Amino acid sequence: MKHHPARLIAKKRDGGALSVDELQDLVAGVVDGTLGDAQLGAFLMSVCCNGMTPEETATLTLAMRDSGCVLNHDHIKKKKIDKHSTGGVGDKVSLLLAPLLAAAGVAVPMVSGRGLGHTGGTIDKLASIPGYSTDMSLERFGEVLDQCGYAMLSPSGEIAPADRRMYSTRDISGTVESIPLITSSILSKKLAEGIDGLVMDVKFGRASFMREEHDAVALMEGLVATGRAAGIQMSALLTDMDHPLGLAIGNALEVLEVLAALDGECPDDLRELTLALGVEMLLLADAAPDADTARATLTRLWDDGVVRQVFRDNLELQGGDVRVLDDPSLLGRAPHVVPVEAMRSGFVTDVDPLALGHVVVDLGGGRRQPNDQVDPHVGIVLRKVLGDEVHTGDVIAFVHASTDLAARDSAHAVMLAMPIGDERVRRRALVKQRLA
Ligand code: URA
Repeated sequence: MKHHPARLIAKKRDGGALSVDELQDLVAGVVDGTLGDAQLGAFLMSVCCNGMTPEETATLTLAMRDSGCVLNHDHIKKKKIDKHSTGGVGDKVSLLLAPLLAAAGVAVPMVSGRGLGHTGGTIDKLASIPGYSTDMSLERFGEVLDQCGYAMLSPSGEIAPADRRMYSTRDISGTVESIPLITSSILSKKLAEGIDGLVMDVKFGRASFMREEHDAVALMEGLVATGRAAGIQMSALLTDMDHPLGLAIGNALEVLEVLAALDGECPDDLRELTLALGVEMLLLADAAPDADTARATLTRLWDDGVVRQVFRDNLELQGGDVRVLDDPSLLGRAPHVVPVEAMRSGFVTDVDPLALGHVVVDLGGGRRQPNDQVDPHVGIVLRKVLGDEVHTGDVIAFVHASTDLAARDSAHAVMLAMPIGDERVRRRALVKQRLA
Protein backbone atom coordinates (compact mmCIF):
# COMPACT_ATOMS: atom_id res chain seq x y z
CA MET A 1 0.00 0.00 0.00
CA LYS A 2 1.12 3.55 -0.74
CA HIS A 3 -0.39 4.91 2.47
CA HIS A 4 0.40 3.80 5.98
CA PRO A 5 -2.55 1.48 6.84
CA ALA A 6 -2.64 2.40 10.54
CA ARG A 7 -2.85 6.11 9.68
CA LEU A 8 -5.80 5.59 7.37
CA ILE A 9 -7.56 3.46 9.96
CA ALA A 10 -6.93 6.07 12.67
CA LYS A 11 -8.30 8.81 10.42
CA LYS A 12 -11.56 6.90 10.05
CA ARG A 13 -11.55 5.98 13.74
CA ASP A 14 -11.42 9.69 14.59
CA GLY A 15 -14.36 10.50 12.34
CA GLY A 16 -12.46 11.79 9.31
CA ALA A 17 -13.48 11.22 5.70
CA LEU A 18 -11.07 9.24 3.53
CA SER A 19 -10.13 10.57 0.11
CA VAL A 20 -10.60 8.73 -3.20
CA ASP A 21 -6.89 7.94 -3.28
CA GLU A 22 -6.91 6.62 0.29
CA LEU A 23 -9.94 4.40 -0.23
CA GLN A 24 -8.61 3.01 -3.49
CA ASP A 25 -5.34 2.22 -1.73
CA LEU A 26 -7.17 0.43 1.09
CA VAL A 27 -9.11 -1.72 -1.37
CA ALA A 28 -5.89 -2.52 -3.24
CA GLY A 29 -4.46 -3.61 0.12
CA VAL A 30 -7.51 -5.83 0.71
CA VAL A 31 -6.94 -7.59 -2.60
CA ASP A 32 -3.14 -7.98 -2.52
CA GLY A 33 -3.01 -8.79 1.20
CA THR A 34 -0.84 -5.84 2.22
CA LEU A 35 -3.70 -4.80 4.51
CA GLY A 36 -3.46 -7.48 7.21
CA ASP A 37 -6.44 -9.25 8.79
CA ALA A 38 -6.23 -7.21 12.00
CA GLN A 39 -6.00 -4.00 10.01
CA LEU A 40 -8.96 -4.93 7.83
CA GLY A 41 -11.02 -5.80 10.92
CA ALA A 42 -10.10 -2.48 12.53
CA PHE A 43 -10.94 -0.55 9.37
CA LEU A 44 -14.34 -2.25 9.07
CA MET A 45 -15.11 -1.53 12.72
CA SER A 46 -14.16 2.13 12.29
CA VAL A 47 -16.61 2.36 9.35
CA CYS A 48 -19.25 0.50 11.32
CA CYS A 49 -18.96 2.96 14.22
CA ASN A 50 -18.43 6.21 12.34
CA GLY A 51 -20.24 5.63 9.04
CA MET A 52 -19.18 7.11 5.72
CA THR A 53 -20.14 10.14 3.70
CA PRO A 54 -22.13 9.43 0.50
CA GLU A 55 -18.97 10.27 -1.48
CA GLU A 56 -16.89 7.79 0.52
CA THR A 57 -19.52 5.06 0.08
CA ALA A 58 -19.60 5.66 -3.67
CA THR A 59 -15.79 5.62 -3.91
CA LEU A 60 -15.52 2.45 -1.82
CA THR A 61 -18.18 0.77 -3.99
CA LEU A 62 -16.42 1.63 -7.24
CA ALA A 63 -13.02 0.55 -5.91
CA MET A 64 -14.52 -2.79 -4.82
CA ARG A 65 -16.24 -3.20 -8.19
CA ASP A 66 -12.95 -2.51 -9.98
CA SER A 67 -11.09 -5.04 -7.83
CA GLY A 68 -12.20 -7.71 -10.34
CA CYS A 69 -13.71 -8.08 -13.81
CA VAL A 70 -16.40 -5.64 -14.82
CA LEU A 71 -18.56 -7.32 -17.44
CA ASN A 72 -19.60 -5.64 -20.61
CA HIS A 73 -22.51 -6.96 -22.65
CA ASP A 74 -22.50 -4.24 -25.32
CA HIS A 75 -22.99 -6.93 -27.98
CA ILE A 76 -26.52 -7.34 -26.57
CA LYS A 77 -28.64 -4.43 -27.68
CA LYS A 78 -31.38 -4.89 -25.07
CA LYS A 79 -31.38 -2.97 -21.79
CA LYS A 80 -29.60 -4.94 -19.05
CA ILE A 81 -31.54 -4.74 -15.78
CA ASP A 82 -31.22 -6.81 -12.62
CA LYS A 83 -32.98 -7.12 -9.29
CA HIS A 84 -31.42 -7.76 -5.91
CA SER A 85 -33.09 -8.54 -2.63
CA THR A 86 -31.52 -7.95 0.76
CA GLY A 87 -32.63 -11.47 1.70
CA GLY A 88 -35.56 -13.22 3.25
CA VAL A 89 -37.27 -16.52 3.99
CA GLY A 90 -39.11 -18.25 1.15
CA ASP A 91 -37.97 -15.58 -1.30
CA LYS A 92 -37.80 -17.35 -4.65
CA VAL A 93 -38.77 -14.26 -6.66
CA SER A 94 -35.55 -14.18 -8.73
CA LEU A 95 -36.33 -17.59 -10.25
CA LEU A 96 -39.58 -16.22 -11.67
CA LEU A 97 -38.54 -12.65 -12.30
CA ALA A 98 -35.52 -13.37 -14.52
CA PRO A 99 -37.51 -15.38 -17.13
CA LEU A 100 -40.43 -12.96 -16.80
CA LEU A 101 -38.29 -9.97 -17.74
CA ALA A 102 -36.41 -11.93 -20.39
CA ALA A 103 -39.78 -12.81 -21.93
CA ALA A 104 -40.55 -9.07 -22.00
CA GLY A 105 -37.36 -8.31 -23.94
CA VAL A 106 -35.06 -7.18 -21.12
CA ALA A 107 -31.67 -8.86 -20.59
CA VAL A 108 -31.12 -10.02 -16.99
CA PRO A 109 -27.50 -10.88 -16.10
CA MET A 110 -27.94 -12.17 -12.57
CA VAL A 111 -25.02 -12.89 -10.26
CA SER A 112 -26.65 -14.29 -7.15
CA GLY A 113 -25.55 -15.46 -3.75
CA ARG A 114 -25.72 -18.61 -1.71
CA GLY A 115 -27.90 -18.76 1.38
CA LEU A 116 -26.72 -16.57 4.24
CA GLY A 117 -27.75 -17.44 7.80
CA HIS A 118 -31.49 -18.12 7.94
CA THR A 119 -32.09 -16.53 4.52
CA GLY A 120 -32.09 -18.66 1.39
CA GLY A 121 -29.97 -17.98 -1.68
CA THR A 122 -30.93 -18.21 -5.34
CA ILE A 123 -27.82 -20.24 -6.17
CA ASP A 124 -28.70 -22.95 -3.63
CA LYS A 125 -32.26 -23.15 -4.94
CA LEU A 126 -31.10 -23.53 -8.53
CA ALA A 127 -28.55 -26.16 -7.48
CA SER A 128 -31.44 -28.42 -6.49
CA ILE A 129 -32.42 -28.80 -10.16
CA PRO A 130 -30.61 -31.89 -11.49
CA GLY A 131 -27.72 -30.88 -13.74
CA TYR A 132 -28.24 -27.12 -13.43
CA SER A 133 -24.97 -25.25 -13.12
CA THR A 134 -24.34 -21.66 -12.14
CA ASP A 135 -20.55 -22.11 -12.36
CA MET A 136 -19.45 -21.01 -15.80
CA SER A 137 -16.91 -18.77 -17.45
CA LEU A 138 -17.80 -15.12 -17.80
CA GLU A 139 -17.75 -15.63 -21.56
CA ARG A 140 -20.34 -18.42 -21.33
CA PHE A 141 -22.42 -16.23 -18.99
CA GLY A 142 -22.59 -13.62 -21.77
CA GLU A 143 -23.57 -16.27 -24.32
CA VAL A 144 -26.40 -17.67 -22.20
CA LEU A 145 -27.63 -14.13 -21.59
CA ASP A 146 -27.64 -13.45 -25.30
CA GLN A 147 -29.37 -16.71 -26.21
CA CYS A 148 -32.26 -16.78 -23.75
CA GLY A 149 -32.39 -13.31 -22.22
CA TYR A 150 -31.17 -14.22 -18.77
CA ALA A 151 -28.30 -16.03 -17.12
CA MET A 152 -27.65 -17.06 -13.52
CA LEU A 153 -24.08 -17.06 -12.20
CA SER A 154 -22.54 -17.87 -8.83
CA PRO A 155 -20.08 -15.30 -7.62
CA SER A 156 -16.49 -16.32 -8.30
CA GLY A 157 -13.13 -14.81 -7.43
CA GLU A 158 -13.34 -12.87 -10.68
CA ILE A 159 -16.23 -10.64 -9.59
CA ALA A 160 -15.47 -8.03 -6.88
CA PRO A 161 -12.83 -10.12 -5.06
CA ALA A 162 -12.37 -7.33 -2.49
CA ASP A 163 -15.90 -8.00 -1.28
CA ARG A 164 -15.15 -11.69 -0.70
CA ARG A 165 -12.43 -10.90 1.81
CA MET A 166 -14.27 -7.97 3.33
CA TYR A 167 -17.52 -9.92 3.66
CA SER A 168 -15.94 -12.92 5.35
CA THR A 169 -14.07 -10.62 7.74
CA ARG A 170 -17.29 -8.73 8.53
CA ASP A 171 -19.02 -12.00 9.22
CA ILE A 172 -16.59 -12.83 12.03
CA SER A 173 -15.94 -9.34 13.40
CA GLY A 174 -19.40 -8.01 14.24
CA THR A 175 -19.35 -5.56 11.36
CA VAL A 176 -22.12 -6.82 9.09
CA GLU A 177 -24.71 -4.26 10.19
CA SER A 178 -23.34 -1.13 8.59
CA ILE A 179 -25.21 0.72 5.87
CA PRO A 180 -22.09 1.87 3.92
CA LEU A 181 -20.59 -1.63 4.14
CA ILE A 182 -23.81 -3.40 3.08
CA THR A 183 -24.29 -0.87 0.29
CA SER A 184 -20.78 -1.22 -1.11
CA SER A 185 -20.87 -5.00 -0.75
CA ILE A 186 -24.12 -5.42 -2.67
CA LEU A 187 -23.50 -2.78 -5.31
CA SER A 188 -19.87 -3.66 -6.06
CA LYS A 189 -21.03 -7.10 -7.25
CA LYS A 190 -24.10 -5.82 -9.05
CA LEU A 191 -22.22 -3.04 -10.85
CA ALA A 192 -19.69 -5.61 -12.05
CA GLU A 193 -22.51 -7.45 -13.90
CA GLY A 194 -22.50 -4.79 -16.59
CA ILE A 195 -26.06 -3.57 -15.99
CA ASP A 196 -27.87 -0.39 -17.01
CA GLY A 197 -30.25 -0.50 -14.10
CA LEU A 198 -31.00 -2.23 -10.82
CA VAL A 199 -34.17 -2.66 -8.79
CA MET A 200 -33.56 -3.25 -5.10
CA ASP A 201 -35.98 -5.20 -2.97
CA VAL A 202 -35.14 -3.93 0.49
CA LYS A 203 -36.76 -6.08 3.13
CA PHE A 204 -37.77 -5.06 6.60
CA GLY A 205 -39.17 -7.17 9.41
CA ARG A 206 -38.14 -10.02 11.62
CA ALA A 207 -36.38 -12.19 9.02
CA SER A 208 -34.49 -9.39 7.29
CA PHE A 209 -31.17 -7.66 7.92
CA MET A 210 -33.07 -4.55 8.88
CA ARG A 211 -35.75 -5.33 11.39
CA GLU A 212 -36.82 -1.74 11.77
CA GLU A 213 -38.48 0.17 8.99
CA HIS A 214 -36.41 3.34 9.49
CA ASP A 215 -33.14 1.37 9.14
CA ALA A 216 -34.43 -0.30 5.98
CA VAL A 217 -35.44 3.09 4.57
CA ALA A 218 -31.92 4.43 5.27
CA LEU A 219 -30.41 1.41 3.52
CA MET A 220 -32.78 1.82 0.57
CA GLU A 221 -31.86 5.50 0.21
CA GLY A 222 -28.14 4.72 0.48
CA LEU A 223 -28.36 1.99 -2.17
CA VAL A 224 -30.32 4.14 -4.60
CA ALA A 225 -28.05 7.18 -4.17
CA THR A 226 -24.85 5.14 -4.47
CA GLY A 227 -26.06 3.21 -7.52
CA ARG A 228 -27.01 6.46 -9.24
CA ALA A 229 -23.65 8.02 -8.33
CA ALA A 230 -22.04 5.00 -10.00
CA GLY A 231 -23.94 5.76 -13.20
CA ILE A 232 -26.76 3.21 -13.31
CA GLN A 233 -30.51 3.70 -13.05
CA MET A 234 -31.97 2.65 -9.73
CA SER A 235 -35.31 2.11 -8.11
CA ALA A 236 -36.27 0.31 -4.93
CA LEU A 237 -39.21 -1.19 -3.11
CA LEU A 238 -39.40 -1.53 0.64
CA THR A 239 -41.12 -4.85 1.24
CA ASP A 240 -42.38 -6.88 4.16
CA MET A 241 -40.29 -9.72 5.55
CA ASP A 242 -42.24 -10.22 8.72
CA HIS A 243 -43.76 -13.39 7.23
CA PRO A 244 -42.37 -15.91 4.75
CA LEU A 245 -42.95 -15.34 1.06
CA GLY A 246 -45.07 -18.00 -0.60
CA LEU A 247 -45.66 -21.37 1.00
CA ALA A 248 -42.40 -23.28 0.52
CA ILE A 249 -39.16 -22.79 2.46
CA GLY A 250 -36.22 -24.99 1.44
CA ASN A 251 -34.35 -25.27 -1.82
CA ALA A 252 -36.03 -27.97 -3.93
CA LEU A 253 -39.40 -27.24 -2.33
CA GLU A 254 -39.10 -23.63 -3.45
CA VAL A 255 -38.21 -24.71 -6.97
CA LEU A 256 -41.30 -26.92 -6.90
CA GLU A 257 -43.35 -23.85 -5.98
CA VAL A 258 -41.75 -21.94 -8.86
CA LEU A 259 -42.56 -24.72 -11.33
CA ALA A 260 -46.19 -24.65 -10.21
CA ALA A 261 -46.19 -20.86 -10.45
CA LEU A 262 -44.99 -21.08 -14.05
CA ASP A 263 -48.02 -23.25 -14.69
CA GLY A 264 -50.30 -20.64 -13.14
CA GLU A 265 -50.56 -21.88 -9.56
CA CYS A 266 -48.84 -19.18 -7.54
CA PRO A 267 -49.45 -17.97 -3.98
CA ASP A 268 -50.85 -14.42 -4.07
CA ASP A 269 -47.98 -12.76 -2.18
CA LEU A 270 -45.33 -14.34 -4.41
CA ARG A 271 -47.16 -13.28 -7.56
CA GLU A 272 -47.79 -9.78 -6.23
CA LEU A 273 -44.15 -9.15 -5.30
CA THR A 274 -42.80 -10.68 -8.51
CA LEU A 275 -45.07 -8.47 -10.61
CA ALA A 276 -44.33 -5.37 -8.51
CA LEU A 277 -40.57 -5.81 -8.97
CA GLY A 278 -41.05 -6.74 -12.62
CA VAL A 279 -42.96 -3.51 -13.23
CA GLU A 280 -40.05 -1.53 -11.76
CA MET A 281 -37.59 -3.38 -13.99
CA LEU A 282 -39.66 -2.77 -17.13
CA LEU A 283 -39.96 0.91 -16.27
CA LEU A 284 -36.19 1.20 -15.73
CA ALA A 285 -35.69 -0.48 -19.11
CA ASP A 286 -38.02 2.07 -20.74
CA ALA A 287 -39.94 -0.94 -22.03
CA ALA A 288 -43.35 0.29 -20.89
CA PRO A 289 -44.92 3.75 -20.78
CA ASP A 290 -46.42 3.32 -17.31
CA ALA A 291 -46.87 0.88 -14.46
CA ASP A 292 -50.31 -0.36 -15.57
CA THR A 293 -49.09 -1.21 -19.05
CA ALA A 294 -45.99 -2.90 -17.63
CA ARG A 295 -48.11 -5.01 -15.31
CA ALA A 296 -50.52 -5.99 -18.09
CA THR A 297 -47.60 -7.05 -20.32
CA LEU A 298 -45.99 -9.16 -17.61
CA THR A 299 -49.28 -10.76 -16.60
CA ARG A 300 -50.00 -11.75 -20.20
CA LEU A 301 -46.52 -13.24 -20.71
CA TRP A 302 -46.85 -15.22 -17.49
CA ASP A 303 -50.40 -16.44 -18.11
CA ASP A 304 -49.74 -17.34 -21.76
CA GLY A 305 -46.86 -19.67 -20.87
CA VAL A 306 -44.15 -17.54 -22.52
CA VAL A 307 -42.26 -17.26 -19.23
CA ARG A 308 -42.35 -21.04 -18.80
CA GLN A 309 -40.78 -21.43 -22.25
CA VAL A 310 -37.99 -18.95 -21.43
CA PHE A 311 -37.37 -20.79 -18.15
CA ARG A 312 -37.08 -23.99 -20.15
CA ASP A 313 -34.62 -22.42 -22.60
CA ASN A 314 -32.45 -21.26 -19.71
CA LEU A 315 -32.59 -24.68 -18.04
CA GLU A 316 -31.37 -26.25 -21.22
CA LEU A 317 -28.52 -23.74 -21.67
CA GLN A 318 -27.34 -24.09 -18.07
CA GLY A 319 -27.40 -27.88 -18.11
CA GLY A 320 -30.60 -28.44 -16.10
CA ASP A 321 -32.90 -31.38 -16.69
CA VAL A 322 -35.78 -29.81 -18.63
CA ARG A 323 -37.99 -32.79 -17.84
CA VAL A 324 -38.58 -31.31 -14.35
CA LEU A 325 -41.04 -28.91 -15.95
CA ASP A 326 -43.39 -31.76 -16.80
CA ASP A 327 -42.34 -34.11 -14.03
CA PRO A 328 -41.39 -32.11 -10.90
CA SER A 329 -40.90 -35.37 -8.98
CA LEU A 330 -37.47 -35.50 -10.70
CA LEU A 331 -36.37 -32.87 -8.18
CA GLY A 332 -36.44 -35.64 -5.57
CA ARG A 333 -38.00 -35.62 -2.15
CA ALA A 334 -36.85 -35.91 1.45
CA PRO A 335 -37.44 -39.41 2.88
CA HIS A 336 -39.49 -38.20 5.88
CA VAL A 337 -42.47 -35.90 5.43
CA VAL A 338 -44.57 -35.27 8.54
CA PRO A 339 -47.64 -33.11 8.98
CA VAL A 340 -47.89 -30.38 11.62
CA GLU A 341 -51.41 -30.34 13.03
CA ALA A 342 -53.37 -27.58 14.73
CA MET A 343 -53.72 -28.28 18.46
CA ARG A 344 -56.84 -26.14 18.72
CA SER A 345 -59.38 -24.31 16.58
CA GLY A 346 -59.02 -20.61 15.82
CA PHE A 347 -56.94 -18.46 13.52
CA VAL A 348 -53.24 -18.57 12.66
CA THR A 349 -52.01 -15.47 14.49
CA ASP A 350 -48.37 -15.56 13.41
CA VAL A 351 -46.04 -17.29 10.96
CA ASP A 352 -42.62 -16.39 12.32
CA PRO A 353 -40.20 -16.34 9.37
CA LEU A 354 -37.07 -16.18 11.48
CA ALA A 355 -38.06 -19.25 13.49
CA LEU A 356 -39.00 -21.13 10.30
CA GLY A 357 -35.75 -20.07 8.61
CA HIS A 358 -33.81 -21.47 11.55
CA VAL A 359 -35.77 -24.73 11.41
CA VAL A 360 -34.76 -25.15 7.76
CA VAL A 361 -31.10 -24.46 8.57
CA ASP A 362 -31.31 -27.00 11.42
CA LEU A 363 -32.82 -29.55 9.01
CA GLY A 364 -29.69 -29.12 6.84
CA GLY A 365 -31.26 -26.81 4.26
CA GLY A 366 -28.84 -23.95 5.06
CA ARG A 367 -25.27 -23.58 6.27
CA ARG A 368 -23.86 -23.05 9.75
CA GLN A 369 -20.29 -22.95 8.39
CA PRO A 370 -19.28 -21.60 4.98
CA ASN A 371 -18.23 -25.03 3.69
CA ASP A 372 -21.29 -26.97 4.88
CA GLN A 373 -23.14 -29.03 2.29
CA VAL A 374 -26.79 -28.11 1.86
CA ASP A 375 -29.48 -30.81 1.74
CA PRO A 376 -31.64 -29.66 -1.19
CA HIS A 377 -34.72 -31.65 -0.24
CA VAL A 378 -35.46 -30.61 3.34
CA GLY A 379 -37.74 -27.77 4.35
CA ILE A 380 -41.25 -26.70 5.21
CA VAL A 381 -44.39 -26.34 3.14
CA LEU A 382 -47.07 -24.19 4.72
CA ARG A 383 -50.67 -25.25 4.36
CA LYS A 384 -52.04 -22.28 6.29
CA VAL A 385 -50.91 -18.67 6.41
CA LEU A 386 -51.46 -15.70 8.68
CA GLY A 387 -55.14 -15.12 9.39
CA ASP A 388 -56.36 -18.50 8.09
CA GLU A 389 -59.06 -20.23 10.12
CA VAL A 390 -58.15 -23.71 11.37
CA HIS A 391 -59.84 -26.52 13.25
CA THR A 392 -58.23 -28.91 15.70
CA GLY A 393 -56.28 -31.55 13.76
CA ASP A 394 -56.04 -29.55 10.52
CA VAL A 395 -52.66 -29.78 8.84
CA ILE A 396 -51.03 -26.34 9.04
CA ALA A 397 -47.68 -27.35 7.46
CA PHE A 398 -45.52 -30.26 6.34
CA VAL A 399 -41.94 -30.77 7.41
CA HIS A 400 -39.60 -32.50 4.94
CA ALA A 401 -36.58 -34.03 6.69
CA SER A 402 -33.79 -36.51 6.20
CA THR A 403 -34.54 -38.43 9.42
CA ASP A 404 -37.71 -39.19 11.33
CA LEU A 405 -36.27 -37.63 14.50
CA ALA A 406 -35.39 -34.38 12.72
CA ALA A 407 -38.87 -34.31 11.18
CA ARG A 408 -40.57 -34.65 14.56
CA ASP A 409 -38.33 -32.12 16.34
CA SER A 410 -38.87 -29.64 13.54
CA ALA A 411 -42.62 -30.23 13.47
CA HIS A 412 -42.72 -29.14 17.10
CA ALA A 413 -40.70 -25.99 16.30
CA VAL A 414 -43.01 -25.19 13.37
CA MET A 415 -46.02 -25.52 15.65
CA LEU A 416 -44.48 -22.97 18.04
CA ALA A 417 -43.75 -20.64 15.13
CA MET A 418 -47.40 -20.74 14.02
CA PRO A 419 -49.51 -19.99 17.12
CA ILE A 420 -53.28 -20.24 16.91
CA GLY A 421 -55.52 -17.74 18.70
CA ASP A 422 -59.00 -16.30 18.67
CA GLU A 423 -58.41 -13.11 16.69
CA ARG A 424 -58.01 -13.01 12.94
CA VAL A 425 -54.80 -11.05 12.20
CA ARG A 426 -54.21 -9.55 8.76
CA ARG A 427 -50.86 -9.31 7.07
CA ARG A 428 -49.50 -5.79 6.59
CA ALA A 429 -48.99 -4.47 3.07
CA LEU A 430 -46.37 -6.40 1.12
CA VAL A 431 -44.96 -3.33 -0.61
CA LYS A 432 -44.60 -0.52 1.90
CA GLN A 433 -42.75 2.14 -0.05
CA ARG A 434 -41.31 2.86 -3.48
CA LEU A 435 -38.24 4.93 -4.28
CA ALA A 436 -37.81 5.77 -7.94
N1 URA B 1 -25.62 -9.05 0.81
C1 URA B 1 -24.37 -8.78 0.43
O1 URA B 1 -23.94 -9.17 -0.64
N2 URA B 1 -23.60 -8.05 1.23
C2 URA B 1 -24.03 -7.58 2.42
O2 URA B 1 -23.29 -6.90 3.10
C3 URA B 1 -25.34 -7.87 2.80
C4 URA B 1 -26.12 -8.62 1.96
